[in-house]
Amino acid sequence: MSTLNEQHSENSTTLKSRRYHELAKERIAGGVNSNVRLGGSPLCFANGRGSHLTDLDGNVYIDYALGMGPNILGHAPAAVIEEVARTLSRGQLFAGQHALELELADKFCSCVKSAELVRFGLSGSEMVQAALRVARAHTGRTEIIKFEGHYHGWFDNILVNLNGPIANEGDPLPRPHHLQSAGQEAHASDDVAVLPWNDIEAIDRYVSANASKIAAIIMEPVMLNTGGILPEKGYLQHLRRVTRAHNIVLIFDEVITGFRVALGGAQALFDVEPDLSVFAKALGAGFPVAALAGRRDIMELFASGGVNHSGTYNANLVSMSAALATLRELSADGQSVYRRINTLGATLMEGIAASACRCRVDLQISGLPSAFHTCFASHPIRDYATYSRANHARLGIFLAVLLECGVRPTGRGTWFVSAAHTDSDIASTLDAVERALPRTL
Ligand SMILES: Cc1ncc(COP(=O)(O)O)c(C=O)c1O
Repeated sequence: MSTLNEQHSENSTTLKSRRYHELAKERIAGGVNSNVRLGGSPLCFANGRGSHLTDLDGNVYIDYALGMGPNILGHAPAAVIEEVARTLSRGQLFAGQHALELELADKFCSCVKSAELVRFGLSGSEMVQAALRVARAHTGRTEIIKFEGHYHGWFDNILVNLNGPIANEGDPLPRPHHLQSAGQEAHASDDVAVLPWNDIEAIDRYVSANASKIAAIIMEPVMLNTGGILPEKGYLQHLRRVTRAHNIVLIFDEVITGFRVALGGAQALFDVEPDLSVFAKALGAGFPVAALAGRRDIMELFASGGVNHSGTYNANLVSMSAALATLRELSADGQSVYRRINTLGATLMEGIAASACRCRVDLQISGLPSAFHTCFASHPIRDYATYSRANHARLGIFLAVLLECGVRPTGRGTWFVSAAHTDSDIASTLDAVERALPRTL
């Protein structure tokens, strides 16, 4: 096997990354450890500092992928890294309790209004499973409603209709299942009904006919995995009323929005209190930690042991100390981090829109300043169907050119903004956007 340091002709600025990828494929399936990283430019990074990532070839990128959202304080934030290092000197995992858990739980519940009790885990996918299980136990019902285009982790029972065929006006509800993976157990999602999101008529029609079997409705309160689509005015409030009226558990999957769009999550921003919510990503600023939180009477079902939620690594010292340090940073100085992120993000969104206008390019920008989405379409993006009709090939070209220019949104066209981004990053990014847009024509 040849080594990474082998000399190659300098015909590419990402030669070492590409060479690394070839070597990695000999030992790691696909050369990556998450399928989200398959495809696109297989960059290999040497380090991250603040808003910047440096790859093996020494190229520096202004990073808006931020670990797919978690790195809200940027790369290697001193306050978090130092807290984790200090804690590690006391050990890593006890298979027992330690005081940091309660300290974090107190802090967490003071940030998230709907959180009366919390459980910590490691990933969003697993905490979604805990949420579905406890909702079924609480209601004694089995069916879960999820929405087209929403992502709730990679497990068999919920990995349906993230993408897939676009339904036509008047098609029957619920939507036929579209499985997202080879090898997926088709029956695992038998109890999941897929509906269109942002559609009050659809939810009313379906729930009124099926309420007695529905345990929970789960959704991303902002559809950030597909198009960065905001809930229409009053939609979340309507779902809150409907679920309350029928004793259905309302679950917000705040894996992306939690601690990113506001300290209290999207539920604080839109002033809606779900029964349960799931958090991950920004909670640990890039360290592995997740949480399920919500109503005491539902969460108590874990306490009695009646509903199983387990995990060897849950509440390990690294995760707990990282989350605690992160929440302290996010709440410090009257939550100034959010003012900063929102100002930078708004400048970026406005600048990209202005650039698209000057270049006469049909670019749609949707979402919030801390997390937004760009795609190419002449129609507004308001739901799964309108997003699906965007020109995704053109987005691919835009993202590839941006990367060449040293700017790195996610491969889906999502832009996450961190407290580590600077005015100068935003100016350089807008300059790159202005150069990239004409190359997509
Ligand atoms: C909204 C949402 N829910 C759940 C998940 C799954 O979380 P994890 O990747 O930590 O398992 C993700 C991951 O991107 C997500 O965006």
